[in-house]
Amino acid sequence: MTSRRSTRAFAFLLAPFALAAPLAACGDGGSAGDDTVADASTAPTYYRDIKPIMDGKCTQCHFDGGIAPFALTSYDEAKAHAAEASLAVAAGLMPPWPPNPDCNQYYADRSLSAAQKELIQAWSAAGAPEGDAAHPGDPIDVERTALTRVDVRIEPPTDFTPTFTAEAPDQYRCFVIPWPADHTATEYITGFRAVPGAAAEVHHVIAYYAAPGDVATYQQLDADEPGDGYTCFGGPGGPSRGEWLGGWAPGSAGSDYEPGTGLKIEPGAAVILQVHYNGLNVLDTGALPDRTAVEFKVDPTVEREAMIMPWANPQWLDSQSMTIPAGDADVMHAFQFDPTPFLTGGQGFTIYSPGLHMHNLGRRATASIVRAGGASECLLQIDDWNFHWQGGYDLRTPVHFAPGDQLRVECHWDNSAENQPIIGGQQQPPHDVWWGDGTTDEMCLATFYVAVDNP
Ligand code: HEC
Repeated sequence: MTSRRSTRAFAFLLAPFALAAPLAACGDGGSAGDDTVADASTAPTYYRDIKPIMDGKCTQCHFDGGIAPFALTSYDEAKAHAAEASLAVAAGLMPPWPPNPDCNQYYADRSLSAAQKELIQAWSAAGAPEGDAAHPGDPIDVERTALTRVDVRIEPPTDFTPTFTAEAPDQYRCFVIPWPADHTATEYITGFRAVPGAAAEVHHVIAYYAAPGDVATYQQLDADEPGDGYTCFGGPGGPSRGEWLGGWAPGSAGSDYEPGTGLKIEPGAAVILQVHYNGLNVLDTGALPDRTAVEFKVDPTVEREAMIMPWANPQWLDSQSMTIPAGDADVMHAFQFDPTPFLTGGQGFTIYSPGLHMHNLGRRATASIVRAGGASECLLQIDDWNFHWQGGYDLRTPVHFAPGDQLRVECHWDNSAENQPIIGGQQQPPHDVWWGDGTTDEMCLATFYVAVDNP
């Protein structure tokens, strides 16, 4: 992750969306979660102490052909990278897990406890002993990371081979895929996962909703560009409000949505599948043909209809009011408001999953509730923005929002000369930036997977 600064040049939008959250692990299970750390005489061993941690918190990305540059699935691989792993976990660079733990707690938490970090460091320092494969440590519990049923699977009709260069290793492609015609009634999406084709180059996947009346417009965007799909960055473009049906980030195994809740889908709608391709792992070998599929659990009814509430100041979108002046190293914009009168018919709602989204110049961001009494409750805080690890996060304890409260999003950007994208080897000069879809525009968007109270 030392390449963080330079990767800022490769903007993408990953819609924040926790419900397809990365593979989870609970820090409490097994020896890896113990608070005691072995002393030198009882140095940690791979099979007893390290494998449970790596299986729970590393191998969902570090597998052969995965998004990470090497596998950590065997003793030999783990040993070969022991020193590097020790440094990366000590520095907090790995595993990628951006939320500030003081803000809130989430399912599928990839972060390591202090004890787990110390085990990896002590193991590396002791020469990475193998231990006894016949006496493995207990696996770490994995929670909320399985889609329990697949009812609809959709994928683009053909493979797509992205084009990468060292200067421009990112590509964003949107594929317009009709909702299956044999689904003739209104239904609810109650779970989601993505199945990346070429895992080494598929960095993120978002499924957007295209309402039946908007499908033709998207098909035209597709038809206007050669090859399957069309180029898209900040969202699907077109008439969509950018509503998500699901999102996938590396390490995610997919999951059901909150039991009893789901996202409505109408017959005749389409799914716009946005795939963010990143070529850093395949620059030497060449881009691979990809066909990424998405899978949905679908139910005819739910107890409460969920929605993904995008949250930003509406004025930012169609004026240049979200100004981020060239050269300014700390620019802040915030917006807070009570959405219940116009979004939920005056009802309160439960927030299950907050997410945050900015582009390349983002530094830090917070989503919170400001209670009617003035108290602030943190939902999600990202202190060191890295657009490669955006995502949404499932709250362990869902939070209720009452009419009179306000939802708040706050974003900070760095638009100084040092924080500019490098294009063709040249760092670009800073320019004034506003809200927009392009890689060099910015956004300040929170998203909330919510279910509205029954009246
Ligand atoms: C969500 C995916 C993901 C998970 C989980 C993950 N890694 Fe990584 N790791 C990556 C990627 C991708 C890279 C390549 C560098 C980059 O993109 O920043 C990487 C790079 C590394 C590196 C190379 C040095 C560096 O910092 O770039 C080490 C060492 C490493 N990971 C160790 C680990 C260990 C140990 C774990 C588990 C405790 C882990 N990673 C979990 C995705 C992941």
